[in-house]
Amino acid sequence: MSNVKFLSGETIPLEMHKVRMVQKVTLLPVENRLKCMQDAGFNTFMLKNRDIFLDMLTDSGVNAMSENQYAAMMQADDSYAGSETFYRLEAVLQDIFQTKHFLPTHQGRACENIIARTFVTSGTVVPTNYHFTTTSAHITLMGGSVEEVISDEGFKIQSDAPFKGDIDIGKLNKVLNQHGKEKIAFVRIEMGTNLVGGQPVSMGNMREVSRICREKGILLICDASLLADNLYFIKKRDEKYKNADIKEITREIASFMDIIYFSARKLGSARGGGILVSDDELFNKMRELIPLFEGFLTYGGMSVREMEAMAVGLQETMDIDVISQTPIFVEALCNELIAKGIPVVTPPGGLGCHLDASQFCPHIPQAQYPAGALAAALFIASGVRGMERGTLSEKRNNDGSERLAGMELLRLAVPKRVFTLSQIKYTADRIVWLFKNRHLIGGLEFVDEPKLLRFFIGKLKTVSNWPEKLAEQFRKDFGESL
Ligand code: F0G
Repeated sequence: MSNVKFLSGETIPLEMHKVRMVQKVTLLPVENRLKCMQDAGFNTFMLKNRDIFLDMLTDSGVNAMSENQYAAMMQADDSYAGSETFYRLEAVLQDIFQTKHFLPTHQGRACENIIARTFVTSGTVVPTNYHFTTTSAHITLMGGSVEEVISDEGFKIQSDAPFKGDIDIGKLNKVLNQHGKEKIAFVRIEMGTNLVGGQPVSMGNMREVSRICREKGILLICDASLLADNLYFIKKRDEKYKNADIKEITREIASFMDIIYFSARKLGSARGGGILVSDDELFNKMRELIPLFEGFLTYGGMSVREMEAMAVGLQETMDIDVISQTPIFVEALCNELIAKGIPVVTPPGGLGCHLDASQFCPHIPQAQYPAGALAAALFIASGVRGMERGTLSEKRNNDGSERLAGMELLRLAVPKRVFTLSQIKYTADRIVWLFKNRHLIGGLEFVDEPKLLRFFIGKLKTVSNWPEKLAEQFRKDFGESL
């Protein structure tokens, strides 16, 4: 982040870009927002974009692209096999990560499919700092299981720990010793650990985990989808890297890993994905699955235009002014809320601001999905769409009982360079109102519950007519305001 001091002494997240293409958004009246939420079965995934004011569902595939990314899309080389675009993208990845091979895929979870099919067999275990939804779905589909070995700090909603995504070395060693090398499919480190609030992993931790894995001959795989945020935090929070170049930090991280994969819907602000590996044998093991599930080896299911945008986006990720914008906006939103006593995950992470629904709505039982209810309530109150990251996003236990999540979070993602500061302030304002009226929010229950990844397409109903009461209160307090 460029160093700009304000005369007032205030910390303001100054945008280091200007807006040259815009999309109009509409803010519907509260009664219409209520109706949209009812029609969506109280699941924010089921809302229509045209009914949303600020879409904070995710940063996936919705980051703003630069003029250079758009320009690059115009010179894409369309060819089923051997396109020039592939070689351009491959060269960028080789330069940034210093890895030898690149396997293209259509998005992040496609990489997880290829990796799980290649390395996970029935009864094997994947220790990870923390799972991501699609990651564990692919691992369990292959008969494996996930063991979370994140530091205890990672589970604390409020903490001062700068790297809450770190692996607890004691827990890792215990799992490795308990199962033995043969039963460990691989160890997985997720950058900018998504489900605990976009929390980073420290360089020292990656170094140590890598040392242990190499000593024991166990594969270390890195999910780099949220690498950009993690790079920013290493530079910002680790004194040793204060003056380091972003590319140097990236290369050091890459040097610890055997395989790196990423969703390019996040990393590189385009749409697609890829797997990076230097070892020929590992490459050959995965290679055959690309034409089977994705597309030929030189496009992997991606449009060449997106691949060109990705190549430029990845190079731009090496620029601190580009990657700092989301974390400083997240911090600004979190700070406004903290000042009003609203419970959020601290320290602020990358990706988005995470509201703690269990403290926000302690009166809602966990089995009635407090984070899902809060997501629905916030949409009604503001037209802002967030994403539930709690029990609703979990899978039921085999006996049908709810697996209660360790954290009940409502994530308000801040896609890269999309929103303005006044939109962030509007969001904070409506959350403050909702917090004052939180007693009005009630629980949810499923009416249509898919077995796999139920949170995406499931439909719910409310346990009472609380949404109507919330909308009425909004009208009373805000008069004719939208
Ligand atoms: N890994 C991580 C850490 C992710 O955050 C995601 C996606 C994936 C893998 C899967 O990638 O969507 O391209 O298939 N996260 C999105 C989100 C969906 O909203 O957090 P994908």
